[in-house]
Amino acid sequence: MPKITIGSKTFSSNVFYAPLAGCSDFPFRAMAQKFNPGLVFCEMVKMDALIRNDKNTYRLLDYTQNMHPMGAQLCGSRLDIAADCAEIIEGLGFDLIDLNCGCPVDKVTKDGSGSGLLKKPHLIGEIISKIVSRVSIPVTVKIRAGWDDETIVAPLITRIAEDAGASAIFIHGRTRMQAYKGLANRDHIKESKKCARNIKVFGNGDIFSAEDARHMFEHTDCDGVLVARGTFGQPWIAQDIQRMQESLTPLERDYEFCRKNLVEHYHLTKAYANEKKAIMDMRRVGCWYFKKGEVGKALRGKISKAKTIGEIELLLEGLKDPKAFLNKCVTT
Ligand SMILES: Cc1cc2nc3c(=O)[nH]c(=O)nc-3n(C[C@H](O)[C@H](O)[C@H](O)COP(=O)(O)O)c2cc1C
Repeated sequence: MPKITIGSKTFSSNVFYAPLAGCSDFPFRAMAQKFNPGLVFCEMVKMDALIRNDKNTYRLLDYTQNMHPMGAQLCGSRLDIAADCAEIIEGLGFDLIDLNCGCPVDKVTKDGSGSGLLKKPHLIGEIISKIVSRVSIPVTVKIRAGWDDETIVAPLITRIAEDAGASAIFIHGRTRMQAYKGLANRDHIKESKKCARNIKVFGNGDIFSAEDARHMFEHTDCDGVLVARGTFGQPWIAQDIQRMQESLTPLERDYEFCRKNLVEHYHLTKAYANEKKAIMDMRRVGCWYFKKGEVGKALRGKISKAKTIGEIELLLEGLKDPKAFLNKCVTT
């Protein structure tokens, strides 16, 4: 599978897993690493919270040694604390540090952070320069194509980021105004790649299968892909993409394989979170693994209403026999 060198580090694959607030938590990353993506990101952390030693923020960065290589992502726009935050991240042992310039949420953009930074491309350059001057791990930036269709800045930011010392740029082909509507426009990624000299360009947006990744590579000539929602309930998607890259036949992911992985994800969640949190997390995660079919529909309906760990365990146990599970779901 294609290796990729980003700044001072070489990663075993050019298929990375994206930062996903509220989703790429410790159990998610433990599941992900089983399938060898090039790197897995933690959820974004706010610069202000990191600098004031907020306990919950540090918990988002929890990891075990087998989760390497892993990336941390900073969200914020303050030049005065960016480098200090980066130093903390490097000290925690992360392999790569990214600056979030894509988060579309009003709460984040209102102080100019996240995709708010897209309105100030030169500030992005200044923040990156500050971070690069302080740490030796690779520094990257993750952006959306622009604030809206009239202000596409991905090619400009690619150049600014490269000049400022960033080693890779992750480009989500949607604009901020698009939020998650419509498709990611891969032409913006293609244009940005043409502007890149040495900075590595990763295509992001709507990669839910190996075929989607193939299209991203072919259409944009990108150096790597960043998968986000496509990892939900298929932590193995990196392996599927890598097999496609090596022209190997796709592996069959049958019912039993999905069931076993869901159960494993459950055990990791239960071991990591308190009971209340584990129930909430499993309501989300349980809906991911069986997206299609009657069993999936029945499971989603039930698990999203589960109130105790016992109820969740019963549902997971019931999945061993899909026919009985369906009958039970229909009659109860
Ligand atoms: C639930 C959720 C949480 C996200 N959290 C982050 C985040 O913390 N940092 C970030 O840069 N992007 C975040 N994103 C954006 C994704 O990383 C990615 O850019 C976007 O979903 C497009 O890729 P996809 O079509 O493969 O999902 C998030 C997206 C979702 C759906």
